[in-house]
Amino acid sequence: MSRERIRLLLACLATLAVVLPLGYFWQQSRVPSTYSVMSMGYLDYGGGPRGQHAVATTSVRDLSVGTDRPADQVVDLVARRQTVTLASGRKVENGYTVNGTSPGPLIEVTEGDLLEVHLTNRDVPAGITLHWHGMDVPNAEDGVAGVTQDAVRRGQEHTYRFVADHAGTYWYHSHQVSHEQVVRGLLGPLVVLPNEPDPAVLDVPALSHSYAGTPTLNGREGDVPVPAEPGQRVRVRAINSDNGPVRVWVGGTYRVLAVDATDVHGPTDVRGWSVVLTAGGRIDLDVVVPNDGSAARVQVGTATALVIGPDGATAPSAPEPQRELDLLSYGSPAPLGFDPTHADRSFRYAIGRRVGFVRGKPGLWWTVDGHLFPDLPMFVVSEGDVVRIRISNSSGDVHPMHLHGHHAVVLARDGVRATGSPWWSDSLNVKDGETYEVAFVADNPGIWMDHCHNLKHAQQGLVTHLMYTGVTEPYRVGGSSENEPE
Ligand code: C2O
Ligand code: CU
Repeated sequence: MSRERIRLLLACLATLAVVLPLGYFWQQSRVPSTYSVMSMGYLDYGGGPRGQHAVATTSVRDLSVGTDRPADQVVDLVARRQTVTLASGRKVENGYTVNGTSPGPLIEVTEGDLLEVHLTNRDVPAGITLHWHGMDVPNAEDGVAGVTQDAVRRGQEHTYRFVADHAGTYWYHSHQVSHEQVVRGLLGPLVVLPNEPDPAVLDVPALSHSYAGTPTLNGREGDVPVPAEPGQRVRVRAINSDNGPVRVWVGGTYRVLAVDATDVHGPTDVRGWSVVLTAGGRIDLDVVVPNDGSAARVQVGTATALVIGPDGATAPSAPEPQRELDLLSYGSPAPLGFDPTHADRSFRYAIGRRVGFVRGKPGLWWTVDGHLFPDLPMFVVSEGDVVRIRISNSSGDVHPMHLHGHHAVVLARDGVRATGSPWWSDSLNVKDGETYEVAFVADNPGIWMDHCHNLKHAQQGLVTHLMYTGVTEPYRVGGSSENEPE
């Protein structure tokens, strides 16, 4: 063989050595055109038994409210694809509305009410669903296309029925092509009032959402006036429906009454600190309108604020505090209602990032426990299990981690144990470099998403599921089902 030929051969071999593994990884990364999330990735039993999983007896479809009693409240919601007009008149093209506006109407019910929502898709081409973010509803009502239902196609209707059994602040949003539909407005606030609300307290939702880069509160830009008498006590229900965290602070003194629809035990006065509101999360604040005729300022990010006070009253500007309130030590301890030290299953949810292929595309992608989408863990639990998850993040970006159907209590962050009020959350801001230890009781059978609520990240593959043994589901993602939950 001539020297030329050997050189050529070597070059060919070298090329193959690069191309073949690339081709292999590309092939491995491709998602079948249609699949069940149950068959995605690999089963992770968290050190618990594997046995019973073979017998799947309950369909997601049957995990519903379990009563025929008439609804206490019926709400009709109609989703459309249309230009969103903000209160200022600013138009946002290619938006989505619910009953003609975005955010959609406030749904307000009382604890214990059976809520029935009739959802109509007037003309959203990709289909829609509604997910009740933060509400631990029965699995069949969770509103995830391809996991708990089929997307509601154009011209079709779907009914949701569930009991709002836990007072607090929530929101609803589409869970079909959510990285596009939620960002463009297919969402709204949902409040469950306590059985005996204090009549002296004014209840004010404040839903933060950016439309094509314009930050708003309840669809309004800048300072949003809220009429209230001097001395009025106000419960501000801040909701973050964006992809990234936002800081919330108050000009004067405030208290944090609830986090993710769970009351804080023994909240104390806060002054000169902000509180981080993670993407998808909710924070309820206790604020009092000053007695001197001025208004209270509740700042949600630097660009929007509620200005609560008498007609025409102004509130002095409130510079952003340097310090962030740490929910790990805020409030005072209270019983958890279960013992997290003896877990039946312990999982790791380690978020990283590496070069590879996802959905056939090369890139720098999120990993979970070292794996790339769709080869991600399916966390398997049995009803009644005490479950622990260690969520860590070394990916270089913040991830608002959201587990459907459950609230988990924070036990520790970076090895520092929680010392304040039990911090129950459904949307947890996990910064780069942080590790959270959380725990919950598996008390809501089904198949539940456990994903990043930066919906772009979810679409890029930061999505896993939690599955109860014995549960199966008939739905599919992709293909002719056209279900695309992310
Ligand atoms: Cu706000 Cu998977 O949801
Ligand atoms: Cu993320």
